[in-house]
Amino acid sequence: MNALKDDMDKVRFETDRTLEKTLVFKNTDYDRIIDAMRYATIGGGKAFRPFLVTLVAEMFPLKRTIVAKIGTALEMVHSYSLIHDDLPCMDNDIMRRGKAATHIQFGEATAVLTGDALLTQAFLLLSTHETGFSAAMQVKLIHLLAQAAGADGMIGGQVMDMLGEKIPLTLDQIQTMQRLKTGALIRFACTAPAIAADAPQEDIDALTTYADALGRLFQLTDDLLDVEADAALLGKSIGKDKQAGKSTFIGVLGIEETRRLASACADEARLAISHFGLKGHKLRDVVDLVLNRKK
Ligand code: IPE
Ligand code: IPE
Ligand code: MG
Ligand code: MG
Ligand code: MG
Repeated sequence: MNALKDDMDKVRFETDRTLEKTLVFKNTDYDRIIDAMRYATIGGGKAFRPFLVTLVAEMFPLKRTIVAKIGTALEMVHSYSLIHDDLPCMDNDIMRRGKAATHIQFGEATAVLTGDALLTQAFLLLSTHETGFSAAMQVKLIHLLAQAAGADGMIGGQVMDMLGEKIPLTLDQIQTMQRLKTGALIRFACTAPAIAADAPQEDIDALTTYADALGRLFQLTDDLLDVEADAALLGKSIGKDKQAGKSTFIGVLGIEETRRLASACADEARLAISHFGLKGHKLRDVVDLVLNRKK
């Protein structure tokens, strides 16, 4: 498990280097936005999604540069979602990734614009010319990311999350919310590299089933950590879900039942990835990494 964590740190390092190269603009009149974009993305996060992109890509023949592009673009979208998630009008969180949330550091207006800029920058990165990679496949990736990030994906889930503070969501609705707000980007991470590599449909199907179970597991453990974790280690505030009256599995089922559900999601993910036999061993180990994570 430690080797896997080291691998994830390596991807974090590589993603940071790509971000450093990408987030450089010539005009110093607006370098405040560049500072904020770098502040919100470089260092601090786990780079879990670029890590998934890398592990899936290892199973298929895919150019290194396109793998880095997919992972970095996705990390930009994810980081934007966190900046907006922390705003006073949403979760009103002051700490993110062990430091002040972007709106605390740069002010609310800049934080909103930083999120907007990162979302746009992700598509700019994915659409830049890539030698030896077809334009049609680039458009396909852009389409998939737009789908995952948009109203029928992550944003839809965030809308349900906010709604769930005002009215109690049913278990089915909470599951839909998780599938969208967290699952959609994780599904993109697990399937986009395979699609880019023109993998057989049965491989893409297995990765989709894996990603859906892993996405649920990731949000269930996020909710458990909100109750049980050490804020300093977690790098964000705890106890916020209950305080905000969020609709979560923990709220409806309690901690023990939520843990059982997490364990069932882990089983589902392991079963799906067994499709790849030995080749899928790292993605199998990722399931345990998420199940037992402390941050
Ligand atoms: C936090 O995601 C938000 C959720 C979708 C649960 P991560 O736990 O991956 O956050 P970072 O990127 O490591 O900060
Ligand atoms: C966030 O879920 C999911 C996103 C799409 C950003 P949370 O609101 O639970 O994430 P944290 O706990 O603030 O990281
Ligand atoms: Mg939230
Ligand atoms: Mg939040
Ligand atoms: Mg949370």
